[in-house]
Amino acid sequence: MNTAEVEQLLDALVVHVRKWLKQSGNTELVTFSPTPAEIRMRSRLSPPMEAEGIEGVLEGMDDFLRFSIRSDSKRFMNSLWGGFNASAFAGEVLSVLAQTSMYTFELAPFATMVEQALVKRMCEMVGFPDGAGVLTTGGSNGNLVGMLCGRHSVQPLSMHRGFDGRNSAIMVSAESHYSVSMAANVLGVGLSNIVKVACDDEGRMRPDALEEEIGIAKRAGQEPFCIIATSGTTVRGAFDPLLEISEIAHRNGIWLHVDAAWGGAALFSAEHASLMDGVSQADSVCWDAHKMMGIPLICSVFLIKDPEILRVVCSHTEGAHYLLHNVSKDVDMGRISLQCGRRNDALKMWLAWREIGDAGWARRVESFVALAGELEAMIKEHPEMEMMSTRVWANVCFRMNPESVPSEELDDFNSRLRRMILQRGRYMVSRSLVDGNVVLRPVIANDGVDSESLAGLLDECEQCANELLEGETLIG
Ligand SMILES: Cc1ncc(COP(=O)(O)O)c(C=O)c1O
Repeated sequence: MNTAEVEQLLDALVVHVRKWLKQSGNTELVTFSPTPAEIRMRSRLSPPMEAEGIEGVLEGMDDFLRFSIRSDSKRFMNSLWGGFNASAFAGEVLSVLAQTSMYTFELAPFATMVEQALVKRMCEMVGFPDGAGVLTTGGSNGNLVGMLCGRHSVQPLSMHRGFDGRNSAIMVSAESHYSVSMAANVLGVGLSNIVKVACDDEGRMRPDALEEEIGIAKRAGQEPFCIIATSGTTVRGAFDPLLEISEIAHRNGIWLHVDAAWGGAALFSAEHASLMDGVSQADSVCWDAHKMMGIPLICSVFLIKDPEILRVVCSHTEGAHYLLHNVSKDVDMGRISLQCGRRNDALKMWLAWREIGDAGWARRVESFVALAGELEAMIKEHPEMEMMSTRVWANVCFRMNPESVPSEELDDFNSRLRRMILQRGRYMVSRSLVDGNVVLRPVIANDGVDSESLAGLLDECEQCANELLEGETLIG
């Protein structure tokens, strides 16, 4: 592309970005639920044999935005991420502009120092004053690294001799994220050696059940080497009791990893930090800044109390003579990462943090949780809606229960209701299960959401429910 075309493309890009942001608050549709066939038909997906030049690029840009959902809309409450952060957006663009990889200080001097400053601060917040950490590809990967460190702590030779997971066990909450199963699979622990510890009525891992399961596993000749507790479960937003769990972990010599992918930001808030009391007693933690903190995907940190263990499990890098040299041994992030090439995900978080500071993060967390509280109150007042779980965080699990729908049909009714909401496209919420029942699970993780959009969501549910019921009456 010549210079004039680059200029033209940048101008077009800026026009797109401005237009997108202008629409943010007032787009009528969050999604128009396209089908794969529709996308195939209405755009040219197949990479061309002959160059299309800038025209092809511009058309591709248009198509991409045309078919994208509006996760920045105030009516997007589907996922544990969303919204738009201008400072972080700038950081993302600059990271790509100053294209580099994070393995060495030499290649990423400023970004390395930024990442270390963030890790240091987040370690302090968690209570690992001498800890270390690194940005990963997400909470799933953070859970994997935590489990790997746990494995190393009990079987340091496994790294060299291999690992037979048949007699191992890992203990996770019954409501943990599926990535812990993936991590167990990758590490050779085996899915049948994952012990799903029972939760209480509010979705928190029960310490008495944990203790019991550890005993059962040991009596069966298994070695439990890792407990994964969750701070902010995916569906209910529950926080496992870390103080009690850490006491059990220490007494039994088991590694404790805390999956704080969703809930880690509670630590900013004086009002909510106590949800994570005891996190300083853990051995490792993962925390997604791309969730509650609203940094663009991906931005996730893995933190460890004893840096040496992370260094050892990542010491394959010793063989990378073409990359890592002794000169900057203590600063090269490549020595404590499972990745080789790695994006600069730190800059966007750092710029956003500079803009709003700890106090701004605290306000954000508190306002999100307060909005979730508002939604909960509206649901409780509504005669045809019911909360399906206790709420402490920004997840609200509820369902519609119109009088005319028999209780055994409520799962199907709420599933159809959610499909209709998606088809109308004005709102997006996810569908989940709580105790085997279908629920709608709006979450507040998007700074666009306000009281009006929450009330609007419930109106939308009501309208869709009425339409479904009317349809049934007509058919009946
Ligand atoms: C509790 C929890 N842990 C881990 C993850 C995985 O995080 P990521 O999508 O960043 O891999 C999620 C994702 O939603 C989650 O809710």
